Amino acid sequence: MKNNDIIHTDNINDQLKNIIKKYDQEKKLIITDHNCRKYCLPVIQEIIDDTFEIFEIKPGEDNKSLDTVKQLWSFLSEKKYTRESLIINLGGGMVSDLGGFAASTFKRGIPYINIPTTILAQVDASVGGKTGINFMSLKNEIGVFSEADHVLISEVFIKSLKKREFLSGFAEMLKHALIHNDEHYSELIEFITEYESNENLKKLNSLTKQSVKIKEHYIKNDLYDKGKRKILNFGHTFGHAFESHFNLNKNLEIKHGEAVAQGIICEIYLSHKKLNFESDKMNRISNDIKNIYKIIKPKSDEFDLIHNLMTHDKKNLNDVINCVLINNNNIPLFDQEITKDDITDALNYLNSV
Ligand code: GLY
Repeated sequence: MKNNDIIHTDNINDQLKNIIKKYDQEKKLIITDHNCRKYCLPVIQEIIDDTFEIFEIKPGEDNKSLDTVKQLWSFLSEKKYTRESLIINLGGGMVSDLGGFAASTFKRGIPYINIPTTILAQVDASVGGKTGINFMSLKNEIGVFSEADHVLISEVFIKSLKKREFLSGFAEMLKHALIHNDEHYSELIEFITEYESNENLKKLNSLTKQSVKIKEHYIKNDLYDKGKRKILNFGHTFGHAFESHFNLNKNLEIKHGEAVAQGIICEIYLSHKKLNFESDKMNRISNDIKNIYKIIKPKSDEFDLIHNLMTHDKKNLNDVINCVLINNNNIPLFDQEITKDDITDALNYLNSV
């Protein structure tokens, strides 16, 4: 396993200069997308010399594909990149997932750095080595676990994020807090209530730091997702089904974090129903989420479709739908079986919030 190095910095260029020193004469490739090239690449312009090349990928889930990876592998091969070369993924989760996959498979792996430019990528996608692409309409169907050699996290990129994009990533921070630390959860709610009037990036930096620490805690000794790492999927069993259902069946655009936020409401409800999670707390959390996110309520004739999507979840075992639930002592438990009736109850609760 690589010695993954996560650096939080307000001076990204100095940090980057230090890291790339050892690749002095080597070829270096920055993988990015159109928007990041425009808004984020200028931030690191001063480190770019003629040993660097840029590969721009088209944004959007449709381009997180084998075709794009093939173009990338061809580029690396034609330009004679070697195992001594370096790849820098500059962008959101799509760039680090796809760039990390291409880097980890080309010549059996060349070193790579993630510079995540969204909250979602900073606290989740860029950390923990889940790389991959979509295949045959299935999200992240092909991929490898391979940690970046370095992850550089800086709030400098967050200033240009649209509010919806920001809040989408913030849902993963709420999830980390709920599975691990009540005080951190209260701090996040207080922060977001004030954020619009006072974009406190310094505070945000300290909160993302805590969030990444929580993620690291669950990855430690379980990089390959066999046990406690599964807890990071809290909110995602329902969240992924909402994401697919509203985006594909209903043509309503819902972002990953927005879907996870309403997935958290459903899974908090089932934590209460099945493991006696405190009801006052359940209502408070549901209210907090409702105040931050616009909830898309599924109609009762959509419940079967949502249930059906949940039967395809990667975490299921022997056709049983598994979920992460939190018990009455605030301990998150993975592989908790849920039934079709549980799903109906949780969706009715979501609609009542
Ligand atoms: N996003 C969940 C994980 O990295 O395991």
